[in-house]
Amino acid sequence: MEDRIDELREKRERALLGGGQDRIDKQHDKGKMTARERIDYFLDDDTFNEFDKFRTHRTSKFGMEEKKLPGDGVVTGYGEVDGRTVFVFAHDFTVFGGSLGEVMAQKICKVMDKAMEVGAPIVGLNDSAGARIQEGVKSLAGFADIFHRNQQASGVVPQISSIMGPCAGGAVYSPAITDFIFMVQDTSHMFITGPDVIKTVTGEEVSFEELGGAKTHAQKTGVAHKAFNSEEEALDNIRRLLSYVPQNNVEDPPRVEPWDDPARETTELTDVVPDKPQKPYDMTDVVDSVVDEGSFFEVHDGWARNIVVGFGRLDGHSVGVVANQPRSNAGTLTVDASMKGSRFIRFCDAFNIPILTFVDVPGYMPGTDQEHRGIIRHGAKLLYAYSEATVPLLTVITRKAYGGAYCVMASKHIGGDVNYAWPTSEIAVMGPQGAVNILYSSELEAADDPDARRQELIDEYREEFANPYTAADRGFVDDVIEPAETRARLVEDLKMLKTKRGDQPDKKHGNLPI
Ligand code: COA
Repeated sequence: MEDRIDELREKRERALLGGGQDRIDKQHDKGKMTARERIDYFLDDDTFNEFDKFRTHRTSKFGMEEKKLPGDGVVTGYGEVDGRTVFVFAHDFTVFGGSLGEVMAQKICKVMDKAMEVGAPIVGLNDSAGARIQEGVKSLAGFADIFHRNQQASGVVPQISSIMGPCAGGAVYSPAITDFIFMVQDTSHMFITGPDVIKTVTGEEVSFEELGGAKTHAQKTGVAHKAFNSEEEALDNIRRLLSYVPQNNVEDPPRVEPWDDPARETTELTDVVPDKPQKPYDMTDVVDSVVDEGSFFEVHDGWARNIVVGFGRLDGHSVGVVANQPRSNAGTLTVDASMKGSRFIRFCDAFNIPILTFVDVPGYMPGTDQEHRGIIRHGAKLLYAYSEATVPLLTVITRKAYGGAYCVMASKHIGGDVNYAWPTSEIAVMGPQGAVNILYSSELEAADDPDARRQELIDEYREEFANPYTAADRGFVDDVIEPAETRARLVEDLKMLKTKRGDQPDKKHGNLPI
């Protein structure tokens, strides 16, 4: 028996080395951790349970029968993050560059299936050269098997991807279906076709970094939700993200022991809205002040900055925050902002996370650029996502809520459960200046002193519409509140809404304007 156990231990030791010490050294030389180091760092200490450590490929072509490396390019299994079960797969670049063949795909599918069965998140640590060339269509079949599971798991268990090396060609579509993508500066790249192919096909010259580096995807394309300076930072932040979300779609998000006074007055917000309506301010100051101290975790913060999305806590309960950002493009809604907001709202709704919306929006962004990029189609996504959401919706209008954007931003009419306005709110079809110019153009042309008359009319309009009281009179906002009362009121409302039951009519699925 002892011989057998020694043999097992030897095999285990060998498996830990993946593609061997030389290739591990190369990985380290590139400033990258190995798959096992990443998993060890990511999970709670000593909680990793590995599956399929001894599996190898079944290919005999191209001299592959001579190259059997244990694990076949991926380390898979489950462990714990803050004591909660998480399934994990980490591509092992030391084994055939982490390229994906039949067996590697089966290993990944096995953990995805188990995660679905038990209702636990799946975290994928990607570092792969893509389809394994020697395995031909079997690799492609393997990818498709994974993609299909990504779709099946969407909205059932949270799926998070971290890109920690190359992720090219069809391989990008697995992370792309997952809920969040984190990247690491300098060492991770995502693209459909690499610089060489681009040069051959189009003649365009572009570097790896510019084409699909972390900065490009976190700021330009919005493919990545966050970019980090190191692998450790990326893994720490996946742990943080998981702390806000439930294990699956039939659980509530975890509550943490609250550390902030639920009734704390947010007096610092009293003067946050500037006197001049055109003057910007930072909406994240409002969010930071309202949620439990230090709990705001912004995602997608490098892209479409005119809308802010992220997670926070109110008296220890998770909330998703969506907020217009007056500091960027005056907080207008653009194509990118609509896509960013709607996908985040749908994640929160799928996973029972109430949504807290802060509104200061002058409207959709005017101009041919936005119109021709399809603001009608994309803007509709935001409206659709809010209207479809059945989780508690809490809304605070801080200043402007103009036109169609008023309707879209979790208004009462599309499902807002509790809607507040600060006294500084202006809820109207459009701003006073624009309205007066349209309504009184001929009168102003004929006026002796057009500027003075315009100001009079603006003041009149402001008195009538640019305030929260007409909306309050109709019940479109439930109350006009002082900024200092905001946190305490929202904490109470969230408690009241805990047992909310929201239903959508039965259907196979809606037809989101994608
Ligand atoms: N299939 C099988 N093996 C692959 C592979 C693939 N698609 N891509 C890389 N490998 C192997 C290499 O042969 C090498 O094996 P070795 O360790 O036995 O020498 C190992 O993976 C590491 O590759 P290498 O090229 O030395 O690493 P690198 O860091 O210099 O470059 C890539 C990494 C991903 C940029 C580069 O390997 C590449 O461009 N690969 C092809 C990517 C691709 O086109 N995939 C198919 C599209 S889905």
